[in-house]
Amino acid sequence: MGEIISGKELSKEVREEVRVKVEKLKALYGAVPHLAVVLVGEDPASQSYVKAKGRACTKAGMKSTIIRKDDTITEEELLKIVKDLNSDDSVHGVLVQLPIPKHIDENKVIDAIDISKDVDGFHPLNVGYMHLGRNPILPATPKGILTMIKSKNIELKGKDAIIIGRSNIVGKPVAMLLMKEHATVTIAHSRTKNLKEKCLQADIIVAAVGRANTVTADMVKDGVVIIDVGVNRVDGKLVGDCDFENIKDKASYITPVPGGVGPMTITSLLENTVECFERIMKK
Ligand code: GUN
Repeated sequence: MGEIISGKELSKEVREEVRVKVEKLKALYGAVPHLAVVLVGEDPASQSYVKAKGRACTKAGMKSTIIRKDDTITEEELLKIVKDLNSDDSVHGVLVQLPIPKHIDENKVIDAIDISKDVDGFHPLNVGYMHLGRNPILPATPKGILTMIKSKNIELKGKDAIIIGRSNIVGKPVAMLLMKEHATVTIAHSRTKNLKEKCLQADIIVAAVGRANTVTADMVKDGVVIIDVGVNRVDGKLVGDCDFENIKDKASYITPVPGGVGPMTITSLLENTVECFERIMKK
């Protein structure tokens, strides 16, 4: 049986490190990092993510503000909220939970966030800095994945990695980060031919498509490292994109769902909020 990389356990350790750091920053600056999250509408998943983000901040000794708005809010009103948070010196991180209603241009909202407070790392400048390797704020899920891989000292140099999924939030940035760590990266997606053959070549598989059983045991080689980003509900049960039960004996390392990548995303967000705070304070 492969070793399970528990995001839940690793998160406990990293969040404790963040809490200790926040105490030190408070002594140094007389202030703590403050994350403002804007939540538009009633999407149940978004509501639960935002609640978890707020709770994690508070537990780490940081300040959290959640601004809840009805989904009838206009684009102009939402942009005004973002701009006000940008100019509020007591706020160090600004996050607008996605998705937002269709009548609002998501790009305009992301572009409006002050890059120094962009804890999601979604602003095009941060994305550009990431591609150039220029000290960016990294998006939370990819950063969490890298933290998990590094926590087990898994060698990436020269390894073949396949990322299944090409989203802006996960697939593309994960590919960039693994490439920076000297892995040879393939990005697969819905139109990819011969996915099984490609997966069988891979030393590391990152599955981020949002479809259960995308990766099955016959698609992986012995000793593979599996990072499962999927969150799917099947018969009322949360499962990832990989067939955990049948893959776990072939894998050298595997992340579970739930309790894998999910908790690490919020942990990385806490780290990013501290990072933004420090950068602002040092200016
Ligand atoms: N919706 C799903 N994941 C995320 C995330 O990481 N950040 C934001 N802002 N919205 C999300």
